[in-house]
Amino acid sequence: MNPESKKKEPTPSSIEDLTFERAPTLDPLNMNTGGPRKTVLITGHLGQLGQALMELLKPDYRVAGVDIDEVDITKAEEVAGSFYLHQPDIVIHTAAMTDVDGCEIDPEAAIRVNAIGTQNLVIAAEEFNSTFVYLSTDYVFPGTATSPYMECDPTGPLSWYGRSKLLGENYVRSMLLRYFIIRTSWLVGEKGRNFVKIMLKLSQDRDELTVVSDQLGCPTFASDLAVAIRNMIETPYFGTYHVTNTGETTWYDFAVKILKEAGIDTPVRAITTAELGRPAPRPAYSVLSGVLYNARGFAPMPSWEESLGQYLNKLGDSWKDT
Ligand SMILES: NC(=O)c1ccc[n+]([C@@H]2O[C@H](COP(=O)([O-])OP(=O)(O)OC[C@H]3O[C@@H](n4cnc5c(N)ncnc54)[C@H](OP(=O)(O)O)[C@@H]3O)[C@@H](O)[C@H]2O)c1
Repeated sequence: MNPESKKKEPTPSSIEDLTFERAPTLDPLNMNTGGPRKTVLITGHLGQLGQALMELLKPDYRVAGVDIDEVDITKAEEVAGSFYLHQPDIVIHTAAMTDVDGCEIDPEAAIRVNAIGTQNLVIAAEEFNSTFVYLSTDYVFPGTATSPYMECDPTGPLSWYGRSKLLGENYVRSMLLRYFIIRTSWLVGEKGRNFVKIMLKLSQDRDELTVVSDQLGCPTFASDLAVAIRNMIETPYFGTYHVTNTGETTWYDFAVKILKEAGIDTPVRAITTAELGRPAPRPAYSVLSGVLYNARGFAPMPSWEESLGQYLNKLGDSWKDT
């Protein structure tokens, strides 16, 4: 296919002067003008995964990152404007309302961002013939399994976060052909707040940490996931994949390992999910199987323990400032 054939002229009445020629000069929009090849549009570029992707992809792609201040994905006209401006070959849609309890408290907001926001992007991606990568979650599953979930297993989200993300998946599947839906779990990025940094920080402020021990899943380091996504987008092997680090653990065992690796001796006490009493129900078991991802020949993901060690080395003492 001729890549030029999909380029669209902006609609003069709506976004008069956002021409393709002007785009490279607009650095406030986080454009990397040095990249020689395809244009990748990353939604949620200030988030954990978004930041890892921006850093990884910049040398090889023309990367445009947008976040809520530039493009609110719930507004179709803002989404359309960003497509006219950036003309993306590939869209990596990481933006989401990821506060699981917040979604439970305000389901309509969750649906607006995670479902409708995704639909807005999917409509634009269809129009521009962009390859689409949608980040989804282990929370689409009910958590009643006793062995890792495959991509073909029936979904059954327990929470509004899970429902809203599943609706997003459905829009991608029903409207696009060239898509990757990537379900991942327990994301840990170098930038932003996450479980590892919270445990390290709390270990300094409290005499004892209490962490739930009845949820089983697998941490996924954003830098590993970003590498997997980079490898996947250059292939035609579209579809739904589970991509996490390998292994499984409970939040309790994860916390114990984090503190041990960091040389911190604050005790950790196991509690139940019921004791914690959060608004949103969580799947008790949400380990995702990497069998399809591996069988397709994508580079194997490292174990979560191995990546945790590297993560802590790189993090150094910087978590003390968060
Ligand atoms: N975090 C996890 O444990 C986890 C697990 C499985 C799957 N996932 C999925 O993986 C993806 C990346 O997760 P992450 O942890 O990197 O997310 P994150 O750090 O929360 O980043 C998401 C970004 O999206 C932005 N955003 C929120 N509403 C928006 C809107 N209406 N328009 C535009 N941008 C908006 C957020 O801005 P604000 O910060 O201002 O809200 C934030 O910068 C998400 O799709 C998530 O559902 C995450």
